[in-house]
Amino acid sequence: MLSWIINVCTILAVAQCYFTEENYTEESKMQPPTVVIAIIARNAAHSLPYYLGALERLNYPKERISIWAATDHNTDNTTAILREWLTVMQTQYHYIEWRPSDKPTSYVGELGPKHWTNGRYEYVMKLKQAALNFAKKRWADYILYSDTDNILTNPNTLHLLMAENKSVIAPMLDSQSAYSNYWCGITPQGYYRRTAEYFPTKQRQRLGCYPVPMVHSTILLDLRKGGTKKVSFHPPHKDYSWPFDDIIVFAFSCRISEVQMYLCNKERYGYLNVPAKPHQTVEDDRINFVHLYLESLIHGPPMYLSRYVHVPPKQSDLMGFDEIYLINLRRRQDRRDRMLWSLYELEIDAKVVDAVDGAALNSSDIKILGVDLLPGYYDPFSGRTLTKGEVGCFLSHYYIWKEMVDMQLDKALIFEDDVRFQANIKRRLMRLMEEVEQVELDWDIIYLGRKKVNLEEEVAVENVRNLVYADYSYWTLSYAISLQGAQKLLNAEPISKMLPVDEFLPIMYDKHPNEDYKSHFPNRNLMAYSTHPLLVQPCHYAGDPEWVSDTETSTLWDDDNVRTDWRGSHKTLKGSQPPAGLQSATYKDEL
Ligand SMILES: *[C@@H]1O[C@H](CO)[C@@H](O)[C@H](O)[C@H]1NC(C)=O
Ligand SMILES: *[C@@H]1O[C@H](CO)[C@@H](O)[C@H](O)[C@H]1NC(C)=O
Ligand SMILES: *[C@@H]1O[C@H](CO)[C@@H](O)[C@H](O)[C@H]1NC(C)=O
Ligand SMILES: *[C@@H]1O[C@H](CO)[C@@H](O)[C@H](O)[C@H]1NC(C)=O
Repeated sequence: MLSWIINVCTILAVAQCYFTEENYTEESKMQPPTVVIAIIARNAAHSLPYYLGALERLNYPKERISIWAATDHNTDNTTAILREWLTVMQTQYHYIEWRPSDKPTSYVGELGPKHWTNGRYEYVMKLKQAALNFAKKRWADYILYSDTDNILTNPNTLHLLMAENKSVIAPMLDSQSAYSNYWCGITPQGYYRRTAEYFPTKQRQRLGCYPVPMVHSTILLDLRKGGTKKVSFHPPHKDYSWPFDDIIVFAFSCRISEVQMYLCNKERYGYLNVPAKPHQTVEDDRINFVHLYLESLIHGPPMYLSRYVHVPPKQSDLMGFDEIYLINLRRRQDRRDRMLWSLYELEIDAKVVDAVDGAALNSSDIKILGVDLLPGYYDPFSGRTLTKGEVGCFLSHYYIWKEMVDMQLDKALIFEDDVRFQANIKRRLMRLMEEVEQVELDWDIIYLGRKKVNLEEEVAVENVRNLVYADYSYWTLSYAISLQGAQKLLNAEPISKMLPVDEFLPIMYDKHPNEDYKSHFPNRNLMAYSTHPLLVQPCHYAGDPEWVSDTETSTLWDDDNVRTDWRGSHKTLKGSQPPAGLQSATYKDEL
């Protein structure tokens, strides 16, 4: 009975409370920590539009960010670009500190703008220290230093780094080579020491946030931590005897202050350009950066231009060719976009030609086009004859040869749409073609990208650098072709005795090992060369699970019911050399 009464009372009390109580607002959330971003720019006009584009896309509240920006010793348009951006962004960021300096434009005793003299090191240390003092004075929670050729394409980078709760942390950045923004070892004299951990980390076989003796280029300091009160960039510690270099001075300062540096590679955060050598120019730096941009399109997340700075349009040209063709399957828009962005950045003008889509053809369409199989053609590795994809690919190349002859184009360049360009391809190719002209080389095709089948070294062409006589090769990734070459290929009437186009070419230059195939083509006098090293590589490489081939993943040319795939094919990237740099782990085509 008593318990019943208590229960009733409780219910009444609760009810009364519910009906009479005021509504209370919930506590609001904590605001995110405040951040100062330090921008120190010199001769960065080529990378700034992408650098600033990445900063403005960081999904961190801009009203919690202040910008500290300095620029000096420029010979290019860096100051104007930064000023333009800061003028627009000042309404969005909490505060902007702007320290431009027009003069001087060089340091005393420097070999060029990429040379680091002691005077330059010292000046940069002072700038970094000034940014640190500024951040401390304004009670900022964090300061982010990021060099102007470090492009933080992952918009979550700030949040991700903060979540690790470290005093000094860097996001691992990818470059065009083995270079990155950390060391795993340091010598007792303060120099770089190669360690067993470096490459597994770089290649992301080892994922996490690791204590390392050195991080640089992009680093986040948590100024709320006790340890970071003591670290400094300038002046160097009184016991300092290591090399006079801003990053080493700072690593030493952290060590003395018992602040551990951390490197994080749990995600892809962005890219950094390989530093130019002391004697190199700003233009060399720009060319490296273009290559980095192209890599970002392949691996993602890609770089995007700032929306708030004016970028002068590129001046594309044909590099002396009469036409440059980009073969693309209409349904492969991702590849077309990537190639067009890449070619635009390389300042190469290309015409997109719609590839013949083998998958859209049925066996009767193919017969109507006059296609017939080369008698006895059989792929010994996959155990099948032609696929529809291979027919489509052949016809795509064939129609270009035909257009060349119809329009009497002297020389053309052909790209398939799944290629990666070697650094500086434009300058290298133009120099090569100049030398080819100088020695009056009689040529029909010059491979820019292919798979060399045999291991033997090929014979070099005299007086032309980086050109060899082509031996048996697979693939038709990219090649230059002369009018005479196109005519020879058409004269062979290959449509009525078709085999894959990358087998047809070696037959025509008489390097195919199969005598039966060759017997159907009596005039095998094509003059074929190859660049060496190659100027173009495939985007994907051995073992990549994402690799898709439109030519080998298809159905048989004369049977719509027999599906084929690339397994067992000898034309996969297996055994081909993955190019140096980024591509040594398993990357996916993220675009
Ligand atoms: C409390 O909130 C309820 C539901 O939102 C609303 O109907 C009621 O009018 C509010 N009372 C007061 C005193 O604001
Ligand atoms: C320099 O940059 C400013 C601001 O982006 C731009 O208006 C100007 O055209 C640029 N000048 C050159 C020579 O590129
Ligand atoms: C960082 O600190 C926050 C808050 O104390 C905590 O929730 C989080 O788990 C910490 N992260 C790591 C990686 O230790
Ligand atoms: C092949 O496709 C064409 C249209 O492209 C169609 O007219 C024809 O009937 C098809 N033939 C077969 C055998 O499916």
